[in-house]
Amino acid sequence: MQGSLGEKIGQGVFADVHAWAPGQVVKLSRPGIPQWVVRHEAQMTRAVFAAGGPAPEVLGEVTLDGRFGIVLPRFDGPTLTQATRTGAITREQAGEILATLCRAVHKTRPPPDALSLREAMDARLRFGGSVLPERITTGVLALIEHLAPDDVLCHSDLHPGNVIMTAQGPRLIDWLGAARAPAAYEIAQCHVLIAELARNMPTIRSGPRSIRFCRRSMRGWPA
Ligand SMILES: Nc1ncnc2c1ncn2[C@@H]1O[C@H](COP(=O)(O)OP(=O)(O)O)[C@@H](O)[C@H]1O
Ligand SMILES: [Mg+2]
Repeated sequence: MQGSLGEKIGQGVFADVHAWAPGQVVKLSRPGIPQWVVRHEAQMTRAVFAAGGPAPEVLGEVTLDGRFGIVLPRFDGPTLTQATRTGAITREQAGEILATLCRAVHKTRPPPDALSLREAMDARLRFGGSVLPERITTGVLALIEHLAPDDVLCHSDLHPGNVIMTAQGPRLIDWLGAARAPAAYEIAQCHVLIAELARNMPTIRSGPRSIRFCRRSMRGWPA
């Protein structure tokens, strides 16, 4: 893949996002993060794009100084978080945009290699190390076994920091957590991300009004 590492335009827990070739970015695993994490994101992003879902096209994969990277189209525009902060978009509109993206995700046929909720939760709990007591982690996994199997494709990290408002419309990024799970899992995660975690996460923060409008827009949601 032709390109060279340009300015850093974003940073998260697992990866840094840099300019790459014209119209492209590279999402590079951060030092110390196992390569499988971003490799898995590349696999999920490709699979959802191939299934016709609202994921970006993966343009290539690179390894730079031992760091694995995904080359993606560059989306120009503010994130939905930034757009609500500047007032370019109201919180009501932000909720509707999230809900519309969410419906598009859930209508996409889940790729066969997307993790089940049980597998995804197992991976998350392992990644969290010993933060939660063993009885809680085994309890969560046991409860998941009893859920009705009404799986849809879930993005699993649906928040305004993962939406870029381009001139062509909103674009949903960051597909590491894509999983086959009940739609309620997505809605619950979205709620916790926006209403509870956002206070400490500046890339998400957009306020509880967004989640109210998002929930309202999601009524009548097809199972
Ligand atoms: N395709 C892209 N085009 C432009 N900017 C991007 C793109 N992907 C990510 N970014 C920028 O990098 C930030 C972090 O990207 P993201 O994929 O959400 O990483 P993380 O997994 O660390 O949350 C985004 O909020 C956005 O500002
Ligand atoms: Mg993100």
